[in-house]
Amino acid sequence: MLNRRRKLYEGKAKIIYEGPEPGTVIQYFKDDATAFNAQKHDVISGKGILNNRIAAHLMTRLESIGIPTHFIKSLNMREQLVRSVEIVPVEVVVRNIAAGSLAKRLGLKEGTPLPRPLIEFYYKNDELGDPMVNDDHIMAMGWADPYELEEMISMAFRANDYLNGLFAGINLQLVDFKIEFGRIFGEYGDVYIVLADEISPDTCRLWDAQTNEKLDKDRFRLDLGGLVEAYQEVAVRLGLIPREGIIKEGDFNEELAAQLETIENEMAGRTNIRSIKRMRAKKGTPVV
Ligand code: TMP
Ligand code: ASP
Repeated sequence: MLNRRRKLYEGKAKIIYEGPEPGTVIQYFKDDATAFNAQKHDVISGKGILNNRIAAHLMTRLESIGIPTHFIKSLNMREQLVRSVEIVPVEVVVRNIAAGSLAKRLGLKEGTPLPRPLIEFYYKNDELGDPMVNDDHIMAMGWADPYELEEMISMAFRANDYLNGLFAGINLQLVDFKIEFGRIFGEYGDVYIVLADEISPDTCRLWDAQTNEKLDKDRFRLDLGGLVEAYQEVAVRLGLIPREGIIKEGDFNEELAAQLETIENEMAGRTNIRSIKRMRAKKGTPVV
């Protein structure tokens, strides 16, 4: 089944295959984990299945509050059908609590709550190690126009507000997360910006609200172990798998995971994309 499809792109954690209809692609979640621009690499059995399920759920939730996403529906344990987009080469990071590169760069103690959510941009370029950039770099280099950037910023903060509440309700702190956006080209020259890629414990920092235990990819980055258990804990709290179904790392295999298959597709085919018109940038348009 997989072999007959044309592979369009292979990234560090996902593969993009040609979709069944024009304008669609299939996003396949691998078990590969990388960190520090792929200098560190491992294959963690079960990670892809969990990320697929968690990402499908979170995208569906965001779509339900009116944030347009590329997500169409889950296909199976490792794959989702998504809209084909032109990826904006900018990683948008929203932070609520100091951690990771922010804590390091500004000398903040990890865990320090920020006075307000903070947004950062990184140029998506592996060769350069995804350097941090500002809004002016993004517009001057033409990676996004002022209207697109404004849309991306407002969607990022809305997603943060919503996800903060969603995770707080299951006793998790959303420390920070990274999102990516894509363009969809309408029939009449209109351009839509949608949330793309994935939102999962690979791309968020999630800490237990009581113990501050890390339940995200930092378990791999920092060699803490227990990544699959941590991701399953997130999935359990989100109500995606039953607690009694939790599988110990090493015992995780496709057959066992199949028994847990309960992905709902409540939003399948119900994508509701808001339109933004591409207009000529006015000089001095404020974007932040
Ligand atoms: P950072 O503190 O390392 O800059 O990471 C900020 C957030 O972005 C964190 O939730 C992890 C996520 N992230 C990615 O998803 N991909 C990346 O390549 C990096 C560096 C961070
Ligand atoms: N995914 C990135 C990489 O391989 C880094 C990270 O998430 O920390 O390099």
